Amino acid sequence: MTIDFAALPHDFLWGTATSAYQIEGAVAEDGRSPSIWDTFSHTPGKIAGDDHGDIACDHYHRWREDIALMRRLGTNAYRMSIAWPRVMPGGDGPANPKGLAFYDELVDTLLAAGITPSVTLYHWDLPQVLQDRGGWPERDTAEHFAAYASVVAARLGDRVSQWTTLNEPLCSAWIGHLEGTMAPGLTDLTAAVRASYHLLLGHGLAVQAIRAAAPGAEVGIVNNLSTVHPASDRPEDLAAARRVDGHTNRWWLDPVHGRGFPADMREVYGVELPERTGDLEVIAAPLDWLGLNYYFPATVTDDPRGPAPYARSVRREGVPRTGMDWEVDPSGIEALLLRLTDEYGARRLYVTENGSAYPDVVRPDGTVDDPERQAYLTAHLAACASAARKGAPLAGYFAWSLLDNFEWAYGYDKRFGLVHVDYRTQTRTIKGTGRHYADLIRRHREGVAKAA
Ligand code: IFM
Repeated sequence: MTIDFAALPHDFLWGTATSAYQIEGAVAEDGRSPSIWDTFSHTPGKIAGDDHGDIACDHYHRWREDIALMRRLGTNAYRMSIAWPRVMPGGDGPANPKGLAFYDELVDTLLAAGITPSVTLYHWDLPQVLQDRGGWPERDTAEHFAAYASVVAARLGDRVSQWTTLNEPLCSAWIGHLEGTMAPGLTDLTAAVRASYHLLLGHGLAVQAIRAAAPGAEVGIVNNLSTVHPASDRPEDLAAARRVDGHTNRWWLDPVHGRGFPADMREVYGVELPERTGDLEVIAAPLDWLGLNYYFPATVTDDPRGPAPYARSVRREGVPRTGMDWEVDPSGIEALLLRLTDEYGARRLYVTENGSAYPDVVRPDGTVDDPERQAYLTAHLAACASAARKGAPLAGYFAWSLLDNFEWAYGYDKRFGLVHVDYRTQTRTIKGTGRHYADLIRRHREGVAKAA
């Protein structure tokens, strides 16, 4: 499979991505308070194997080694998240100097290594203390989020230019408050819709706060989107696909593009939004870029008895799947990049996450060969380059993930890393896909050099 490297800009960001709770560990060190994920993962039965993030990849102590790994991969960007309960343990209270100092040093060391940090402010680890006060279904949480964003931007904004407000708000709202398989583990449509609203309000308020604290900041939001296909031509399935598209894609894209919350989905949910005058303008603050996290497509059928959006996924037989049982379909990433370009007028796009979990085998000599992950990466990068060739303003790609890590409700069983982690010894080993990624990056750079 060939990748049209020439379609990618010369200054393309080749990155890896992680998130705080998934890799840091050190959950009770230096003043960090518990997050909703500490609570959830320590609730028996919520996580496969009753795993939790107490130690994870011990990145809090091994971050220098992890930056050295990035250098070996040849990446020039790193997407990381800040743990809100580490820098503001009271949720809305004073900043924790030790928490800020950790990220300060991390950012400095990344920059010294020639790696651009791309900082996400919220990757699902709400301070538990704010959950105890109602969490995202309450408006105050959006305001506290903006205050926290302001503190972090003021501290790091002289060196960090790329900021993400929220990572995958869909997961926080729909999976965390409706499906209940992520923290805080609720199954309540009203709470979920209210959470979705306040997450997007928090995003808008944080955009203002970041820009005020760090002039020149380039701010975006990261959504996990899917292509959605009806399981049949039946009108019921066509309508179900439209609803799933609303639930998964339009609910998150339309408001930030000034189109308001989709009317059809408001009707589907039947929940009154906690709207106040002026909120929609705040939510729709113009962004510098959009981030796309893409993993798999959805094929759906009508399910009037199911929870909102009253549709369920259908398993297509005979198609390749990853170790997550997710369908492999690289055409989806191309379609979504082009949709963001054509339908939403995106001026700059990043693939902020893309990757695959497969059961890795460590050979007796310690190496890990992972041809399926390598094929997944290559095919998706080829599809990205094809989208760029067709006009998508794609400026970077962040492989999920730098390291094997805590895969939420799946615990440590599912490995997405370019680098294998032995959780017993914390030994890191670059997998075959990591070496392949390094090679692809090198080939793009050689092409750039030749063209110069
Ligand atoms: O591990 C997650 C990440 O935290 C958010 N996006 C999807 C990844 C794989 O499930």
